[in-house]
Amino acid sequence: MILKLFIAFWSLISVSYGQTSVVDFCVADYTIAKGPAGYSCKNASKVTTDDFIFSGLDVKGNTSNLFKFAASGAYDLTLPGLNGLGLSLFRLDIDVGGAVPIHTHRVSEVIIVMEGTIIAGFISSDNAAYFKTLNKGDVMVFPQALLHFQVNVGNTPALAFVSLNSPNPGFQFTSYSLFANNLPSSIVEKITLIDEDQVKKLKSIFGGTN
Ligand SMILES: *[C@@H]1O[C@H](CO)[C@@H](O)[C@H](O)[C@H]1NC(C)=O
Ligand SMILES: *[C@@H]1O[C@H](CO)[C@@H](O)[C@H](O)[C@H]1NC(C)=O
Repeated sequence: MILKLFIAFWSLISVSYGQTSVVDFCVADYTIAKGPAGYSCKNASKVTTDDFIFSGLDVKGNTSNLFKFAASGAYDLTLPGLNGLGLSLFRLDIDVGGAVPIHTHRVSEVIIVMEGTIIAGFISSDNAAYFKTLNKGDVMVFPQALLHFQVNVGNTPALAFVSLNSPNPGFQFTSYSLFANNLPSSIVEKITLIDEDQVKKLKSIFGGTN
């Protein structure tokens, strides 16, 4: 019994030592190409406090686009100190009648609504939809890699902040993925069952070709 406990305890310690970083931080060195784990570390003697600071999330993003939304924020390219730390923070602005179109990231996301009323939701891999009207102060989580969206259903602009557990979560918007590319429309029809004419129309809206 004691031995078992000891072994369990020891494997716990080994795991946590295995995951413990050997550096306090790894500020992104933009002069070297990024790899799967992120950027290389900037020489610590050159690191300054400003490498850990991002300003401007008090300013509304530019919502002049098809979906009337903006996402702006602090991620590895705008806040080098986030590199290697597994998190990022964005501001979402959604105008009246607008939406953050359905999209995925490589990671999970948590949202907090600050102003307005939105319907937020995600779709699981067995095609169940989980969605709800959220108001100021409400928090919702979107599990990693699942398709999700936010729709402004109020009469005022909506403001929310989201945090994701990657310094570069990636944004893959389904409509743009399908209709902003150069895949022949006949192939898009085959892989979606959407009429080729409709595909061509959507490609012209989203900037795709062929
Ligand atoms: C980091 O910068 C210091 C001071 O300029 C220099 O002495 C040191 O060699 C640098 N380290 C690396 C790994 O480049
Ligand atoms: C907002 O974005 C639109 C479309 O990209 C652009 O035409 C416009 O100049 C931008 N407005 C500002 C204030 O940057």
